Amino acid sequence: MTSQTDAVGGKYDQFAQAGTTEALGGNIHAGYWDSGAEHVPMAAATDRLTDLVAERLALRPGDRVLDVGCGNGFPAVRIAETHDVHVTGITVSAEEITRATALAAESPAADRVAFRLADAADLPDDLGTFDAVFAIESLLHLEDQAAALARLRRFVRPGGRLVVADLCQREPFTGAAEAVLAGMVRTLEIAGINSEQEHRDGLRKAGWDLVELLDIGENVRPSYELAAQAFRRIADAAPPFAAADIVTAAELMSAFGENPSSGYVLITAQRP
Ligand SMILES: C[S@@+](CC[C@H](N)C(=O)[O-])C[C@H]1O[C@@H](n2cnc3c(N)ncnc32)[C@H](O)[C@@H]1O
Repeated sequence: MTSQTDAVGGKYDQFAQAGTTEALGGNIHAGYWDSGAEHVPMAAATDRLTDLVAERLALRPGDRVLDVGCGNGFPAVRIAETHDVHVTGITVSAEEITRATALAAESPAADRVAFRLADAADLPDDLGTFDAVFAIESLLHLEDQAAALARLRRFVRPGGRLVVADLCQREPFTGAAEAVLAGMVRTLEIAGINSEQEHRDGLRKAGWDLVELLDIGENVRPSYELAAQAFRRIADAAPPFAAADIVTAAELMSAFGENPSSGYVLITAQRP
């Protein structure tokens, strides 16, 4: 692992130990609200996003699926249970592996879910081969997404799907928005946030065929303020090693959500 991935893993270890997972309801990603469905709670809305990802993977029972940046295992376990598939999740956080493994052990799909400490930027040769792969809000931590996506392609069968859910910049962030982005880079260990075009270019350079790219930024927008509120609720009781970052992260997420240039892409691609 590189110093960047060590730093990312350490950050997710700390946030998990500080209770952010429980505060967010399990998934560490945005929720999806259909228009007029604002009453849907965060945990249900984040599961809805997982379901939108899974629908696009074109899964068949028994398929082998890779979850790149699996967090605490909630998306992997949900997809294994609902689609009768095998899911391997990778992350650079040892704390997440412990939590994801415990979550899977309680699942009816326990024998079809596994987690492994591995770097998406340097996938191990013995990872196996997959029918489909997904990455929910993990690629933004990678310095060279195109290189990672190119290597990832080699682990997926021809015709297999890749689904990416990630933040995007609709217009280049300037002024206060640029300062918020700089804060996210520092506090959340992200490498950057792509424009829609950068997402497209990265996939093409990596040899993936684009099937669909949706900007669902307005459907996920309530997530940022809800996540900020959840972080503020736990900040006072958070351990000293994470308390300041949790307060800062809450303010950054809130500001990010208020910026109309903050988009969110749901991308489906296919290995030729
Ligand atoms: C925002 S969280 C999303 C977690 C999960 N996908 C979810 O939706 O609940 C980002 C995840 O990406 C993982 N991650 C970041 N950089 C990574 C890398 N280089 N290799 C593997 N996982 C990585 C983090 O450890 C974390 O689990």
